Order: sequence, then C-alpha cells, then structure tokens
Amino acid sequence: KRRVTVRDIAAAKERHEKWPMVTAYDAMTAGVFDEAGIPVMLVGDSAAMVVYGYDSTLPVTVDDLIPLTAAVVRGSSRAMVVADLPFGSYQASPQQALETAARFMKEAGAHAVKLEGGHRVLPQVELLVSAGIPVMAHLGLTPQSVNALGGYRVQGRGQAGDELMADAKALEHAGAFAVVLECVPTDLAQRVTASLSIPTVGIGAGPYTDAQVLVWQDLMGLTPQPAKFVKKYFDLAGEMDRAVRAYADEVVAGVFPTPDHSYR
Ligand code: KIV
Ligand code: NA
Repeated sequence: KRRVTVRDIAAAKERHEKWPMVTAYDAMTAGVFDEAGIPVMLVGDSAAMVVYGYDSTLPVTVDDLIPLTAAVVRGSSRAMVVADLPFGSYQASPQQALETAARFMKEAGAHAVKLEGGHRVLPQVELLVSAGIPVMAHLGLTPQSVNALGGYRVQGRGQAGDELMADAKALEHAGAFAVVLECVPTDLAQRVTASLSIPTVGIGAGPYTDAQVLVWQDLMGLTPQPAKFVKKYFDLAGEMDRAVRAYADEVVAGVFPTPDHSYR
C-alpha cells in the first residue's frame, strides 16, 4: 500500500475521474475512511467548530491542529493527508507560510497544506511550491474571512465570478495542485473546472467539479444545523443518542454488565 500523491491527483483530472475528499481529525475515524478508499483527507480548520467547540474557524491555532494532523497520518496508510493552515498562520508573509507549513510536515507528517485566498496569497503559494510542499488553494466562501465577507453566504455571483476565475487561474499558475471552491454558483464552478488543468474540489459548488469535499460530521449527521449543500448519509447523532441512553438505562437497571462482560 502506498500513499496517494499529487501525481495521482493530476492523472485523475486527465482521465476525467471524480474523487471524494472528507475531513478527519483523529486516528480511528481516519482509519475507517482510509479503509473505504478515500484518497484525500483534510484536517480542516473546521476542527475549530467540530472538535474544539468554537463558533468560527478563527480561534484555532497551529498548536491545536498539529496533534490532530499527526493522528490522522498515523491512522491512515493510503490517503494523502492535507493540513489546513489556520487563520493568522500564513497571511503575514511567504516566510511565515513556509514556517507554518514546515511544522505541519515535520511535526505531523502532513503530505500537503491548504490555505485560503486568491491573489493575496500567490507569493505564499509560490514559495511553498518552490520548497516542495504541495498546496491546495481555497476560493469562494473562505471561512477565515467571514467577518470581511459579512457572513457565510454564496460567493462569486456576477462580477465577483470573473475575479474568482482570475484567482483560480493565478493559483494554478503559482503551482497549486488543486483548488477548493466553496459555496459558489454551479455554473461558475463548472466554468472554473473546465478552464483549469488542476482539479477543483467543490463544497456547495454543484456537481461539475472534479472532486467533492464534506466535513465528516456533516455527512454522518452529527452536525445539528448543517448547510444546504450538505447531504446527510447517516443519523449519527440519533444513533449515538439511542445507544448512550440504552447504556445509561442498563447501568441504572443493573442489566449491564452481565457475566459475559466480567472476569471470574
Ligand atoms: O476546514 C474545512 O473543513 C475545509 C473544508 C470544508 C474545505 O476547509
Ligand atoms: Na478550512
């Protein structure tokens, strides 16, 4: 078994093969997704919400994310593991971005990094790529800019679509190996996908991107109020509620444990 690489990702685009990506934040969950053949896992800064309980991605730090990234790498053997660079850890300069990305690669064993933004982060992308670090870009709804965007809303309508297209092309030119398109109109995502030679990874971007990504707690039904773009494949919150209540009831009633679960 070998890891998926950026060459495999590029080959998939040439063959017009779509691929799934999910987030992961711990070893055992990563192991399940790895066994299922998920080729790329993202240790998203969405950990801010789904792991750490913050209400945006802004508070999470590099020190918060490195142990989660290391766990996902240890828990998988086949997937490419992409580490999300958190807010404030790369915007200041290309040098800052390189220092942060190097920590994720050296301390956690990440295989690639992801950062948000278009023309403003081109120097960062260029330096990381020249240092041998694969970079996944992220355009459209970039949650680290939620305060500037005025909320979590669709991006790239009208004139802004041309700017997004220009950013996507510039990121490809700077050496990014893929670009996430979050919460953009379907037709814009389709045009960007057709215009780039690197894959697009959609989330709330319609069916025409080269890949799709979802936060695993969203697709498994653990998130209380998921966004419109989420499809719920399981009722994990409901199943966990049922199971933990059954356990609690059996403890209270003295039904668990039985001799089967005990040592003599
Ligand atoms: O942090 C995250 O989970 C992400 C994906 C949803 C693209 O950036
Ligand atoms: Na993210």
